[in-house]
Amino acid sequence: MHFFLASQARAAAFRRDRPFVLYRGRVMSILSPSPAALADAIAHLRAGRLVAFPTETVYGLGADATNDHAVAGIYAAKHRPQFNPLIAHVADAAAAAALVVMDARAWALAGAFWPGPLTLVLPRRADCPVSLLAGAGLDSLAVRVPAHPIALALLRGCGLPLAAPSANPSGAVSPTTAAHVQAGLGGKVAAILEGGPCLVGIESTILDLTGPHARLLRPGGLAVERIEALIGPILRPAPIVDDAAPLAPGLLRSHYAPGLPVRLNVTAPAPDEAWLGFGPTGARQPTLSLSPTGDLTEAAAHLFAMLRQLDQPDRYRAIAVMPIPAHGLGLGINDRLERAAAPRGR
Ligand code: TXA
Ligand code: MG
Repeated sequence: MHFFLASQARAAAFRRDRPFVLYRGRVMSILSPSPAALADAIAHLRAGRLVAFPTETVYGLGADATNDHAVAGIYAAKHRPQFNPLIAHVADAAAAAALVVMDARAWALAGAFWPGPLTLVLPRRADCPVSLLAGAGLDSLAVRVPAHPIALALLRGCGLPLAAPSANPSGAVSPTTAAHVQAGLGGKVAAILEGGPCLVGIESTILDLTGPHARLLRPGGLAVERIEALIGPILRPAPIVDDAAPLAPGLLRSHYAPGLPVRLNVTAPAPDEAWLGFGPTGARQPTLSLSPTGDLTEAAAHLFAMLRQLDQPDRYRAIAVMPIPAHGLGLGINDRLERAAAPRGR
């Protein structure tokens, strides 16, 4: 076992060649990557403890989805409203089919996009072993197969569905590095598995398949156009403005919010604003750029980390964001930005 200093730990987080290392609680020492670290994480999960792990979208705060007590621990650690149901992560489509009723659309989507950033909301099977608390008592359950080797190794190794919301305190910006998890939830988890920065960078696209018409609940890491190319047009409801009865509680208007106010579609920022760029900017350089070339995939991967980096109240009065086109992954990026910019009042 090798131990690293905190700065080296952070550097290691950005090195893709490291399969994983493990943070323990608040201690910034890191166990060197090893199968033993994975075995350790599996033991924690089987014992009902919380383990944060990387996925291709954002880091998840995982617990045994069949264990009410473990699931309650997720809500407590995140200070999450109890009405907000969790996604059950599984190793493959067959494991999903043990939890929910998969119809032809679901199998087609699973075949095309799993493992990947797509969550399907489907009817729970009568014998579904997932905790009712994880599903918030609903007749439906959200399932997803994440596309990250560490997440898949964890799921296969423990043989359990893992309930996993994004590994951040409720309402805060989602974590795309292990260091983000450490900053928000350190001390509340048994372990954090290190898997480098998340390559997709925004949460999965959520599709409701409980009715005859597929319905978009949350735009995210899989472009809606790709889903429609496979199963035809899907319903895209107007943005939810009624916070009392959200379709998916992640659709609460104010969500994913940094501390500073966020202003959207800004081409001429004030001098005391941090300016988050996208594409060419002309004479004034942005403070940071989501993608200097205007690439939406690159922008999604950078979004949450850059919002965190610019969230410096002692330096800036607000975060001003350039316009982002609303197609492909731009739909999910704009959704997160609109929530970050929404009136807080919660
Ligand atoms: O990319 C992701 O989806 C990440 C990673 C960790 O997998 N997870 C994630 O989970 O974003 P979370 O809990 O932050 O967001 C899940 C969303 C919530 O808005 C929740 O309300 C919605 O999924 N959801 C879960 N089960 C649902 C259900 N049965 N019906 C409708 N919405 C559901
Ligand atoms: Mg979340």
